[in-house]
Amino acid sequence: MLNPSRPSAESPILQVRGLARTFGGIVAVKDFSVDVYAGSIHGLIGPNGAGKTTTFNVISGFYAPSAGKIIYLGRDISGHETSALAAIGLIRTFQGATLFNQLSVLDNVRVGCHGGAKANLLRRVFGRDRATEAKADRKARDILDFFGLQALADEFATNLPHGHQRALGMAVALAAEPKLLLLDEPFTGMNPEETRRMAGLVRRLRDEQGVTIMLIEHDMQAVMGICETITVMNFGTLLAQGTPEDVRANRSVIEAYLGSPGDAA
Ligand SMILES: Nc1ncnc2c1ncn2[C@@H]1O[C@H](COP(=O)(O)OP(=O)(O)OP(=O)(O)O)[C@@H](O)[C@H]1O
Ligand SMILES: [Mg+2]
Repeated sequence: MLNPSRPSAESPILQVRGLARTFGGIVAVKDFSVDVYAGSIHGLIGPNGAGKTTTFNVISGFYAPSAGKIIYLGRDISGHETSALAAIGLIRTFQGATLFNQLSVLDNVRVGCHGGAKANLLRRVFGRDRATEAKADRKARDILDFFGLQALADEFATNLPHGHQRALGMAVALAAEPKLLLLDEPFTGMNPEETRRMAGLVRRLRDEQGVTIMLIEHDMQAVMGICETITVMNFGTLLAQGTPEDVRANRSVIEAYLGSPGDAA
């Protein structure tokens, strides 16, 4: 088991309270609250510009909140640095792939094992003592096995097909030992088969590694198929929350996606 410190189920690992974030005059997020339960796969959906990515950016420390609180594992982490949050298992991925294209698949994951910062990359990968290196190497290979990428360990990341690059992105994230993993549109640009495989990996990350997952996604079929709880944002705030069935049947959610009748002209 790569991540033995499994958080206890049925308690919130993350509590967002009254969150707001503005950019000049733009209100990207306002009075948004959500609880994410340990061991769950929790979807965050909503129309374009609803404030989903901004919410992830604030939770993960890329932006400070303009107002509100973020409680992670019972601690107030509002405004904490990304690196400090990563060190306590709060990890996010980005809308696009963020791999080191000219490193091998294995080395990408080894960089992730060392914290993943771009600075001092060579020292991070190659400059450790041999015992540390051997340990990182073993861990990286275990992670590649988990994602079914072991046969590609020596390939340059840039040579991988799209679906494998996205799986590698997830492998790098797992190397950082997340307790809560925030995935921003993990299925974007994937064909149905790639999406199905990626969804399987997300589920296994939760089931076998004990990672709690919060994910933003526009692919409704994928979201509904994989998440136990779905939170819907619109205009920066909470519109609805519930099981996939609740959300699918919710009138205001349907209207938010279809637009009001007046918008259809
Ligand atoms: N750094 C920024 N500076 C100014 N405005 C921003 C910034 N980041 C986000 N916004 C604005 O905040 C609003 C919410 O954007 P956000 O990216 O959070 O939406 P989203 O729900 O992730 O949308 P999408 O589904 O298209 O990715 C938008 O109006 C966006 O233009
Ligand atoms: Mg977004």
